[in-house]
This record gives sequence, C-alpha cells and structure tokens, in this order.
Amino acid sequence: MATREQWNTKAGFLLAAIGSAIGLGNIWRYPYIAYENGGGAFLIPYFIALLTAGIPILILEYSLGHRYKGSAPHVFRKLSQKWEWLGWWQIFISFAIITYYVIIIGWALSYTFFSFGTRWGESTDTFFFGQYLGTTDSFWEAGGLQWNVLLPVLLIWAAILVVMHKGIRKGIERASKILMPVLILMMVFITIRAVTLPGASEGLNVLFTPDFDSLTDPNVWIAAYGQVFFSLSICFGIMITYSSYLPKKSDLANSGMIAALANSGFEFMAAIGVFGALGFLAVSRGIPVNEVADAGVALAFVIFPQIINQFPGLNSLFGVLFFGSLLFAGFTSAVSILEPAVAGVKEKFNLTRRGAVNWVCGSAMVVSLLYTTQGGIRYLDTVDHFINQYGIAVAGLVEVILIAWLLRKLDDLKGHINAVSDIRIGGWWNFCLKGITPIMVSLMTAFNLAAE
Ligand code: PHE
Repeated sequence: MATREQWNTKAGFLLAAIGSAIGLGNIWRYPYIAYENGGGAFLIPYFIALLTAGIPILILEYSLGHRYKGSAPHVFRKLSQKWEWLGWWQIFISFAIITYYVIIIGWALSYTFFSFGTRWGESTDTFFFGQYLGTTDSFWEAGGLQWNVLLPVLLIWAAILVVMHKGIRKGIERASKILMPVLILMMVFITIRAVTLPGASEGLNVLFTPDFDSLTDPNVWIAAYGQVFFSLSICFGIMITYSSYLPKKSDLANSGMIAALANSGFEFMAAIGVFGALGFLAVSRGIPVNEVADAGVALAFVIFPQIINQFPGLNSLFGVLFFGSLLFAGFTSAVSILEPAVAGVKEKFNLTRRGAVNWVCGSAMVVSLLYTTQGGIRYLDTVDHFINQYGIAVAGLVEVILIAWLLRKLDDLKGHINAVSDIRIGGWWNFCLKGITPIMVSLMTAFNLAAE
C-alpha cells in the first residue's frame, strides 16, 4: 500500500484545520444567529456549547483520525464492522452541504466584482433576488439556468479541482497557508474600519445587550449547539479525515484548543465588524438597528451592498474586502468539506486520488447546477434547513453515543491523546462526551422535531 499522505508541517495542519472551521458560517451566520437569539445573552449558551461539546468532540475526532488513520467510514469500520454506515452518513451530509456551499462562494465572487462601481445600484434587494438570481415565484418551477450564477460557480469549481488534485500538502495545505493569513488581515481591517464608522456603537449595543429571558428558550440552546458544530466543522467526518494525515507525533489536545479558539476569535471579530457596519447604516438612515439587521443570505448580499453604497469614501475597497473575505473563508472550507468524500471513495474503491477527486467533485458539481437555476435559492434554503436541523445533530449524537457508551472507547482514546499531547485531558472530557453532550443534543433534536 502506498504510504498515506501527510501534512508538511504542524502549522500547515493547523492552518488547514482553522481554514476549514473559519468559513461562511463565521462571517454571515454567527452574527445573525447571535442577534436573533438574545444578543449578548447568546454568549452564555455559545460558550457552554463550545466548552462542553465543541472542543471535546473536536479533540475526539482528531484522536479518531490520528489513531485509525483513515476516512470516516474506514475509522468507524475499524471500531466496529456494523458502524461503517455512520461514516458514509457523515460523508453524505458533507456532500449535500458542498453542493450549495459553492453557490454562496460563487455569489461572493460575483459581488467582489460588483463592488467596483457598486454595480448593484440603489435597490440592492431587487438586484440580488431579481436581476442576479432571477428568482421564480414557485418552488416547483426550477426556471432556466442563471448565467450570472453559473459562471462564477464554474470558476470556483475549477479552482477547487486544481487544489484537490494537488493533494494534501501541495493543494490544501498550500492554499490554506496563503489564504488564511490574508483573510485574517482582511477581517482585522474590516473590523477596525467598521467600528470607527459613525453609529457603530449602536450596532454593537444590539449585538451585546443581553436578553436574559432568552436563556430559558430551548431554541436558543439549539441554535448555540448548532452554530458550534457547523462552525467548528465537527460531525461531518472532516476533522477525522484531516487528522488522519497527521504524523505520528502530533499534539492533538493542543491543536484542538488552538483551532477552536482561533475559530471563535474570528467569529467574534467578524460579528463586531458586521454589527458595527449595521449600526452605521441604521444611524445614517435614522432608523433602529433591528430594522436593518436582516437574517440569512440577505445580510451579506442585500444589506451589505447598502452599507457599501453609503460608505464614506473608498467604498469599492470596503466591498472588495468584505466579499473577498467571504470568498477566501468559503474556499478553504469548501475543500475541507470535499475531502471526507474524496478520502472515503478513494479508500473504498481503491482509486487513485485523481480518480476519486474527479468522481466526487464531478458529481457534486452536477448536483450544484440545480441551485444555479432560477429556483435555486429556494432549494438552497430548504436543503440548508434540513441539514442543519437534523443531519448534523443526528450524526453528532450517534457518533458520541457510539464511542462513549456502545463501544466504551473514551478511556482508550484518552490514553492515545495524552500520550502525544502536552496538555493532558482529564475526567471532564469523559463527563462531557458521556453526559452533557448526548443529553443536550437529544433534547435539541426532540425540540426540533416537535417544532416542525
Ligand atoms: N465550518 C465552516 C463554516 O463555518 C465550513 C463548514 C460548514 C464545514 C458546514 C462543514 C459544514 O462555514
């Protein structure tokens, strides 16, 4: 058997893992989820979710990949023949996500260009949904292909293919080493500029003013756990696959902590930048921030263009930085979302990397074309909703219960982690994975089902 590919350096792995975590989720998802779920009070459930589920699961996934050296189906099969399907389920979820994730990156690419001369005009809403997406009224009517969307999406696919073909070191690691530092600089610049705009403090007040009543609302807790799983890229087989390319001597606990903290740090920075800019827009129009803070894709593609329209000087530059940061953040996540499927298919069918990349990316590309039609955004919303509400939680729940309870592997894995790590993990890790996480995630899923 050919030797398994490996990351070139420890920093290379960390940058790739952070590149996977920092994605579209951090820039547009976190700010509005936090805002919708109690503003400042959301920090409490978020941190509890991060400390009791996010970091423990991240370290667990690192240990699984590192110890059993393989893609998710391979790792679960090694743990127990009967459980290979769990790895395929995780791959299925990541496959479903990538088909629409690239679409949003494609939009970001278009909008980076539109930023020059603010091509979206004054009514950014009709520009986005009408001229750009050409959205149809009915869910069932796919409508024709939207060339505006198709072309950038195909360009993104081409870039993804190049990186994926080059493999772990020369592809993913190199892309992360270049894009991540640039992305972080861009975001620092955006945030500093945004908080120094007139009215920024109004926006920050809205983001950080706590609404403690929201803490008794189960939906807020569901949102916090969901955000942490999505944002850390856990429960999709991604981190299992990435850590399978680590050399024998790799500090797993330390890397997990660094990746999680870097991801949350970036998330806060982006939220501060986004809400600072929203405050500016609200104040310049003389309306409350709540009235401009729109959710979902509209935040980035409808409201941000309005902010850029109003920007005091150098507005193209601010636009390019904002949409460029979505583009870079999205790209390094996109390759990570594809890697579990590439690795899984390659191992299962004994293919070369080239063959596996062509199959996986080719079929994901074909499916993604559906979202470049005029009905695209409706399908995108629907798939995103189901994946986030159920797909992730179920995969995470089954993974944790399997390892903590059914196979009772936690102590064994803890020994593995502690043998290679500087920071020793202790009883809290078992406690979180055996108790808190399964209870919270089951409650989450039950509430979601009841609410449908
Ligand atoms: N964690 C990344 C983000 O926040 C990418 C990602 C999203 C990975 C969804 C897996 C699933 O955008």
